[in-house]
Amino acid sequence: MDSILVTGNGPLSGQIPIAGAKNACLTLMPATLLSEEPLTLTNAPRLSDIKTMTALLQSLGAEVSALQDGQVIAMSSHNLTSHVADYDIVRKMRASNLVLGPLLARFGQAVVSLPGGCAIGARPMDLHVEGLEALGAEIELKDGYLHAKTSGGLKGAVHEMRFASVGATENIVMAATLAKGTTVLKNAAREPEIVDLVECLRKMGAQISGEGSSTIEIQGVDRLHGATHQVVTDRIELGTYMLAPAICGGEVELLGGRMRLVESFAAKLDAAGISVTETDKGLKVARKNGRVTSVDVVTEPFPGFPTDLQAQMMALMCTVEGVSVLEERIFENRFMHAPELVRMGANIEVHGGTATVTGVERLKGARVMATDLRASVSLILAGLAAEGETTVSRVYHLDRGYEHVVRKLEGVGAKIERIKSE
Ligand code: EPZ
Repeated sequence: MDSILVTGNGPLSGQIPIAGAKNACLTLMPATLLSEEPLTLTNAPRLSDIKTMTALLQSLGAEVSALQDGQVIAMSSHNLTSHVADYDIVRKMRASNLVLGPLLARFGQAVVSLPGGCAIGARPMDLHVEGLEALGAEIELKDGYLHAKTSGGLKGAVHEMRFASVGATENIVMAATLAKGTTVLKNAAREPEIVDLVECLRKMGAQISGEGSSTIEIQGVDRLHGATHQVVTDRIELGTYMLAPAICGGEVELLGGRMRLVESFAAKLDAAGISVTETDKGLKVARKNGRVTSVDVVTEPFPGFPTDLQAQMMALMCTVEGVSVLEERIFENRFMHAPELVRMGANIEVHGGTATVTGVERLKGARVMATDLRASVSLILAGLAAEGETTVSRVYHLDRGYEHVVRKLEGVGAKIERIKSE
């Protein structure tokens, strides 16, 4: 398994291009199942999760080809041959469950393995099931698989979700596009990736309104046609790299970044003493007057502080003056980066869903281990600011969600390299 070697090397300066959003692409790709006509995505990120989704769609009989070095994904689900999403693929990537809604809508049946737990939590699918059952699906759990079917097709309904689940919103909205009649989804998730999905579905002929708000209304149509859609910028990659000049000093411009994608995150950085300025090319980030101070964080569904930036924010809080309390309200086990940061000299106390971080003068480089996707990049950020060398192992986690990390950080002056395993 490869590792990443980072050496603390002072302030950064320059530009980092931000890729298309992994979490938008992972819901846009299954949308191809809703139509017989081709769906093409541009600005797609080059990530292992995208390869996993590609393999899943191909296992269903879809044609999926990566063009232009993976930045364009051309798909066609003209003749699907299976409606079974196998455990071996789904267990590797939870987002595989996003084929459930489209398969039900197109074929009236789907067999999708439960993803099983992952490092950050149990991650059940009850909210997906409840929403699809509201549309008339009959779903039963057998041998670890959800067996879903509809007799006579899905029917529109009014449904309120108990929690604003991102994935459940995506599955229900995609299914509702081909249901008979109108669906009103209440307490829907409001993430930019949902907005991006709806914009793509609308290009395919779907009748949808309210995306980005808590209530989304979908008028079912008989069929959807093909489209070409540009994947929205990745707000989590954006937020991650905004923290690089915050933790190291200097000034970095994140190309493609837009303030609307990271409002609450940028507000939190501003409160900590970091300026975020929107330019015509992206977002420029730098410390205001050299000193960064601690701030408290509570993770919430969008537009609140993103849970996917909690680990990265913790790395910054380890290095600033004062005490920061980070409350993780979305996942039940998303502090596994804390003990690794403690190995670097951080002062962190975790009690249940709350971590209390007391800033230290300087972190010390150490050998640390990535435990999940966002933890891995939090350790790299810590290594950028630490004294000496930090080696982050198990970087396959990193490859799931960040393309060309070494090249992007080297490009702004970081001392970082990838060590190939024998
Ligand atoms: C999406 O996961 C993202 N993944 C996650 O990003 C992100 O952390 C999460 O949304 C929250 O923003 C993709 O978009 C591919 P949820 P998702 O359904 O849809 C519970 C990353 O690092 N829940 O909003 O799975 C669940 O257990 C990944 O890129 C139920 O209880 O998130 C969790 O505690 C990590 N029942 C909470 O809701 C359900 O049926 C949020 O889950 C579904 C979810």
